[in-house]
Amino acid sequence: MASPFRSDILKGKVTLITGGGSGIGFEIATQFGLHGASIAIMGRRKQVLDSAVAALRSLGIWAFGFEGDVRKQEDASSVVESTFNNLGSLDILVNAAAGNFLVSAEDLSPNGFRTVMDIDSVGTFTMCHQALKYLKKGGPGRNSLTGGTIINISATLHYTAAWYQIHVSAAKAAVDAITRNLALEWGADHDIRVNGIAPGPIQGTPGLSKLAPEEINSKIREDMPLYRIGEKWDIAMAALYLSSDAGSKTLWSRLLELQKVNL
Ligand code: HXC
Repeated sequence: MASPFRSDILKGKVTLITGGGSGIGFEIATQFGLHGASIAIMGRRKQVLDSAVAALRSLGIWAFGFEGDVRKQEDASSVVESTFNNLGSLDILVNAAAGNFLVSAEDLSPNGFRTVMDIDSVGTFTMCHQALKYLKKGGPGRNSLTGGTIINISATLHYTAAWYQIHVSAAKAAVDAITRNLALEWGADHDIRVNGIAPGPIQGTPGLSKLAPEEINSKIREDMPLYRIGEKWDIAMAALYLSSDAGSKTLWSRLLELQKVNL
């Protein structure tokens, strides 16, 4: 599908994407790269990172892969530093790393619950926290007026309830809360624009293949308002819009302005 955006819309922007080696994260890496951004992807598996970086470079995208687990603060710190040192700045952080498996609440151990909270929620906060120094206005590689951008990927499971996904629902609800609170605090204090995208079921992702085998996919399609499952491209285009200058006065930053007026 042709992009509705200019191909240089992210020219010169350095983007770090957790979970960028596969699924939605990889599509965001690809589309951001095709729109001018330099890309750093973070993931636990070297082989996945290597082949993702090779695929990005074959498209002419300036890309690096950095191994790390978002659950480990030292990994988060070293990947953020490596991004800055190798690419010269850090303008956009996309938190797309997530863990998931289907299990009933009865069979889920507290450690299983904690594991997904650690990856999705604590991992997202840890990455934001480590990146703050570079994303805030006046930070290294940045002018004194303009901060960077954060995009957190959550889900829609927790808006209602979902079978065998209590851990993921709780974790993604926390991600949405992190997004709102950082948008408020870091928008006001540091000019960092923080937005979230909550995808429903998305075709061709590890999440969907794990959670819903092909036989169930056709049933999901029937439940969708558009009778189709979302595409990774849809999410990447939303992320692109929110990261671009076109998205700079939207959503939370607008809300923040209104709040200031009301105060
Ligand atoms: C029950 C499980 C389990 C399973 C792990 N656990 N897998 N419990 N069923 N299938 C429990 C373990 O028993 C253990 O608890 C605890 O979780 C930690 O397990 P480990 O294997 O030691 O953890 P780890 O190796 O760190 O792996 C964590 C992982 C991860 C979450 C399983 O490897 C993983 O899933 N990676 C895949 C990433 C993925 O699928 N990404 C897509 C996300 S999709 P005990 O008590 O035994 O010690 C997404 C979209 C959602 O987010 C929306 C979709 C519509």
